[in-house]
Amino acid sequence: MPHERTRVAIIGAGPSGLLLAWALRQSGIDSIVVENRSRDYVLGRIRAGVLEQGSVETLTRLGLGDRLAREGLVHDGIYLQWGGERQHIDFAELIGRTVTVYGQQEVVKDLMAAHDAAGSTVYYDSADVAVHGVETTSPRVTFTHEGEAHDITADFIVGADGFHGICRSAIPASELALYDRTYPYAWLGILADVAPSTDELIYALHEDGFAMHSMRSPHVSRLYLQVDPAEKIEAWSDERIWEALQVRLGVDGWNLTEGPITEKSITPMRSFVASRMDYKNLFLVGDAGHIVPPTGAKGLNSAITDVTLLAAGLIDHYAGDDTRLAGYGAASLGNQWRVQQFSQWMTELLHRDTTDLQSADFNYRSQRGRLDYVSRSAHAQRALAEQYTGLGF
Ligand code: FAD
Ligand code: PHB
Repeated sequence: MPHERTRVAIIGAGPSGLLLAWALRQSGIDSIVVENRSRDYVLGRIRAGVLEQGSVETLTRLGLGDRLAREGLVHDGIYLQWGGERQHIDFAELIGRTVTVYGQQEVVKDLMAAHDAAGSTVYYDSADVAVHGVETTSPRVTFTHEGEAHDITADFIVGADGFHGICRSAIPASELALYDRTYPYAWLGILADVAPSTDELIYALHEDGFAMHSMRSPHVSRLYLQVDPAEKIEAWSDERIWEALQVRLGVDGWNLTEGPITEKSITPMRSFVASRMDYKNLFLVGDAGHIVPPTGAKGLNSAITDVTLLAAGLIDHYAGDDTRLAGYGAASLGNQWRVQQFSQWMTELLHRDTTDLQSADFNYRSQRGRLDYVSRSAHAQRALAEQYTGLGF
């Protein structure tokens, strides 16, 4: 059985795991990444689309910014829509910051290319991945790869293995509280081979439910519809999807251009926070420790924040200073609860909740009142702009 030794063993080759391995490598710290899915599967997962300005800066600082600068679409703001009206919220004018539309898949592709060129060790298609002895100074990871059993000893183990991963449960239940909330709605998302009908993202509250128009490139649109979490994708023909999008996104004098749908899926919405992001020599980053509903576009961005904080802590540790590593959990959670409240606010602002029929109509009108307030108040718009573009505190 191959016995390997590395400083940091990272479980999961999503954006968190690959970015952490890359940030450590840039500072001369070796790591090994262990992923249970295939490389193509990881690359094919369609997820987040919006990078905060700080995330763009982080990727650029780490030498991952070339294609991002060429192909990323810089957006000055977003549109909010309700009651047949569409209003532009201009982040650039309000606070001098922007966001960039660049798919998570593209970030992952750039990271894989960088690791390939550098000769990093990433084991894809690993089976039976398990972590051992995280409370000791020599924790281990075991797994099977291409029929061979592997055993890696490390100084630290990092759980970058997403919400359904195995690392969070290596923390004793008595040391961990889980805070979560599910919502009575899900997102049906499509990718379509058609030029976006908008220059910037549209977030719309409609009586039939939320709808959003996003994009991936000048030729590919990404759109979402609020649906019931029990809905089956088979019940949504392409025709039915476009029809609902036309109704919910429609405003006078504007056209939504339809095109061939190349991907469609339904994602439940959840808010979730683990009470700790570290336990002895185990650290969690990204979705392994927390999940947000996608309305605020924060999932990928807060994963990048975690990685930035943890990489700084580990780099300092190997230079003899443990202050930042010891503060990682508190720093990550502090950021996370700010992100959670914003994601919850955006979600509740824009989705139609009809579970309680008695208050549904009241709530819908109150939501419109809130949107009307945001549209009239520069203060409210600045608060939205600050949080959407991500002010790193
Ligand atoms: P992940 O991307 O989940 O990566 C974890 C990796 O660990 C995966 O590659 C997984 O295969 C691997 N893994 C899991 N278990 C094991 C194991 N036992 N052993 C080894 N490897 C393992 N955010 C937005 O901002 N906007 C969106 O539109 C949006 N849409 C989303 C849609 C879906 C379906 C999901 C699940 C998430 C979405 N998110 C969105 C959230 C965003 O994509 C995540 O926040 C981001 O992927 C977090 O990155 P991560 O690397 O921490 O986790
Ligand atoms: C996306 O483009 O997939 C996207 C954009 C903004 C969000 C959520 C998803 O808030």
